[in-house]
Amino acid sequence: MDITPVFVTKSYSPPLEEYQRYVKQILTTCQFTNNGPLLLELEGKLRAFLGVDNLQFVTNGTVALQLALRGLEITEGEIITTPFTYVATTSAILWERCTPVYVDIDPQTLCLDPNKVEAAITPRTRAILAVHVFGIPCDVDALADIGQRYGLPVIYDAAHAFGCRYKGRSLLSFGDVSTCSFHATKLFHTIEGGCVICRDAEVHQRVDLVKRFGHTGDEHFCLGINAKASEFQAAMGLCNLPHVPEIIADRRRSVELYDSLLRDRFTRPTIPAGTEYNYSYYPVLFPSEQALLTAKAALEAQNIHFRRYFYPSLNTLPYLPTRQECPISEDVAVRIACLPLYYGISEIIVKQIGDMICPCIHI
Ligand SMILES: Cc1ncc(COP(=O)(O)O)c(C=O)c1O
Repeated sequence: MDITPVFVTKSYSPPLEEYQRYVKQILTTCQFTNNGPLLLELEGKLRAFLGVDNLQFVTNGTVALQLALRGLEITEGEIITTPFTYVATTSAILWERCTPVYVDIDPQTLCLDPNKVEAAITPRTRAILAVHVFGIPCDVDALADIGQRYGLPVIYDAAHAFGCRYKGRSLLSFGDVSTCSFHATKLFHTIEGGCVICRDAEVHQRVDLVKRFGHTGDEHFCLGINAKASEFQAAMGLCNLPHVPEIIADRRRSVELYDSLLRDRFTRPTIPAGTEYNYSYYPVLFPSEQALLTAKAALEAQNIHFRRYFYPSLNTLPYLPTRQECPISEDVAVRIACLPLYYGISEIIVKQIGDMICPCIHI
């Protein structure tokens, strides 16, 4: 029997007519890229949605991180960061020829533990790069305080945090620079895409220059790269943005169903008070790696695929120059998985997953 596979995520597809209307406009004007009208419209709408002044829409969330470092003129030195995130956070640091210095995570929120940051600061430290992992807010007050006392910019990789609000404002509005991914698998997406949000207008201008080859007309100012997003990506964003409240509400219903089935049985990360969450992921901590692997195999037999997210703990990557210990992250990374969660996932599937993984907690 052919069973339709269920993956950890599924891209949101806007109504076809909505996208077609934009495609027709693009093909008529023949402006496909280079700060086109749809890109400018999307940037304006994202600024309003997020309540930020300086936002640039770029090709993806990885290059957004690289631009954040370039915008802050960080081209060498150590970046204090978290080992519990997607590999792109670390690869952006390494790609920019900086050294990641891993600080362990808070076992409740799974975000960088601010209590351990100061001990890792050295004369070579250039910035703190934290991640609102799964959209869970970092301790933004403590990190801002450390950043101020040591003169270090705080960058947030907010790839998972679109639609989250914390302390009454968008979570993407915290930090000196905050970046997001709008990859097709994200809650709000532009097929591929991302953004850079800068507190400081000068940093914003530098990012703008670097993302378009470092020149304006014939005048060349600095080394640049091509991080310009196209009109087709902007069009997808314009279609999807109005649907964000409905996407979050739908995900919330699925999360509440998972909660009703699993809450008393599995440990879950803690979302701090004051968060309006986006329900972007459903991470569960198994009692052991063996229990996780048993659940994974059982689900895969039914063509249902969860994801070991995030695994491995990035301080153990084989291509790092030195091995740094992060026992909490290493322990969490082997026991955590994100269960399938996306707009339109059926109750039947959620219940099936719940029923299948519950027996695995006793392994
Ligand atoms: C935490 C984090 N940072 C960065 C990225 C990279 O974003 P992109 O895939 O848009 O390059 C991702 C992608 O999933 C991510 O999860």
